[in-house]
Amino acid sequence: MKQIGVGLLGFGTVGTGVVEGLQRNRKVMAQRLGVDVVLKRIADIDIATDRGVSVDKSLLTTDAASVINDPDIQIVVELIGGTGIAKTLVLAALNAGKSVVTANKKLLAEYGNEVFGTAERNGVDIYFGASVGGGIPIIRVLREGLAGNEIQSIHGILNGTCNYILTRMENEGLPFEQVLTAAQKAGYAEANPSLDIDGFDTAHKAIILASLAYGFHVPMEKVLVEGIRNLAGVDVQYAAEFGYRIKLLAVVKREGEEVEVRVHPTLVPLSHMLASVSNVFNAAMVRGDLSGDTLYYGRGAGREPTASTVIGDIGDIARNLMSGKSRYRRGVCVANEGKVHVRSADDVVSRYYVRLMVLDKAGSLGVITTILGKHGVSILAATQKPRPDEMADAGFVPVVILTYGAKGAELEAALSEISGAGVLNEQPVRLRMI
Ligand SMILES: NC(=O)c1ccc[n+]([C@@H]2O[C@H](COP(=O)([O-])OP(=O)(O)OC[C@H]3O[C@@H](n4cnc5c(N)ncnc54)[C@H](OP(=O)(O)O)[C@@H]3O)[C@@H](O)[C@H]2O)c1
Repeated sequence: MKQIGVGLLGFGTVGTGVVEGLQRNRKVMAQRLGVDVVLKRIADIDIATDRGVSVDKSLLTTDAASVINDPDIQIVVELIGGTGIAKTLVLAALNAGKSVVTANKKLLAEYGNEVFGTAERNGVDIYFGASVGGGIPIIRVLREGLAGNEIQSIHGILNGTCNYILTRMENEGLPFEQVLTAAQKAGYAEANPSLDIDGFDTAHKAIILASLAYGFHVPMEKVLVEGIRNLAGVDVQYAAEFGYRIKLLAVVKREGEEVEVRVHPTLVPLSHMLASVSNVFNAAMVRGDLSGDTLYYGRGAGREPTASTVIGDIGDIARNLMSGKSRYRRGVCVANEGKVHVRSADDVVSRYYVRLMVLDKAGSLGVITTILGKHGVSILAATQKPRPDEMADAGFVPVVILTYGAKGAELEAALSEISGAGVLNEQPVRLRMI
């Protein structure tokens, strides 16, 4: 049986999973693919530490360039992460005529044009299945299974750390900071959790999904990104009382020439399938014009689930290399570049959950509803809540308002005017709803 050589860059969490998977499942892969995929070299800056995977020491090197330039290696797998050395090595591999597999969402979100363009110019494949959804093959779904659809929308829970925190905040009534600390102890959150909890990791993934769905490069600075850092337990509780669960959602959808790409905590109705995705699990709901709604669920991170997708990509490239006629478009198609653009946050229409601490005096609510009406924001429901113990100021009561669809600019203008009307004692809280 013919062999295809694989070189790995980065022997960390996912890298060790890939090595273990390739070794354990080599035979079954060979049977399925009709080609023997062989791990030839592994590069990491630290090759002394025991990674808990048995590996022939002669495969290990600290010299990533030697892996890229090894003539026995046709597929280079980049699992270093970030946009520093990883970018240099990915571009070097593509320019050396090697096909590349990467799980690096940050690299693709920020430098996708350059990376995909380099693959295209060199006539080599780039696969990035594990960059979104870890063990869920959502990229493959957009590239292949739903390729015959106009994608109408994608709603995704794409960050396990955030979903774990939100699940525990709701189930145990705990504040954000306390759950974050527990998540860090349990290994579900990084020591520096900003990339996850401030929404940037989800935004990187949303950018990749939007690029695939709509054929253009989405600039990071155009994406509306709000994380969960400032989410109050009381809003999680009130949302539940209204029949909603708060999730950090990536929303990608197209209307005409405009594409919405946004990430924010969102009230999801309990009856919606995404509401039942809890703990570290991820899911994406994709609506195609032919397929209707389709749902993909699984582990969005972790050594083995992520390795599963990386190895699937290696298998696809191995097939392409064997067939020798891999001429389909590599990376993402950018046929709509310049034809569609990202809708500004001001123009995005959403329903809103608004919590206000309102002066407990006749007429206060009237002031608020008048201002909302003046800015075109219609009220679906409004409820005064009992004052929780931690809200000590006796002169003010929490009022929650759910709105009908309103433009971002309309709602912000209304809240700004309400804030200056002398009826609140703290800034309004507003969350989007689906
Ligand atoms: N972890 C997940 O569950 C997951 C899920 C989906 C996608 N991803 C993506 O997969 C990629 C890898 O993530 P990971 O969690 O496996 O990261 P990781 O555990 O930090 O592993 C990265 C490895 O690369 C090594 N490295 C750093 N510079 C290098 C260089 N110049 N040459 C060779 N090796 C070098 C690191 O060595 P040192 O540690 O010694 O610095 C480390 O062993 C990232 O792009 C990440 O976003 C991860």
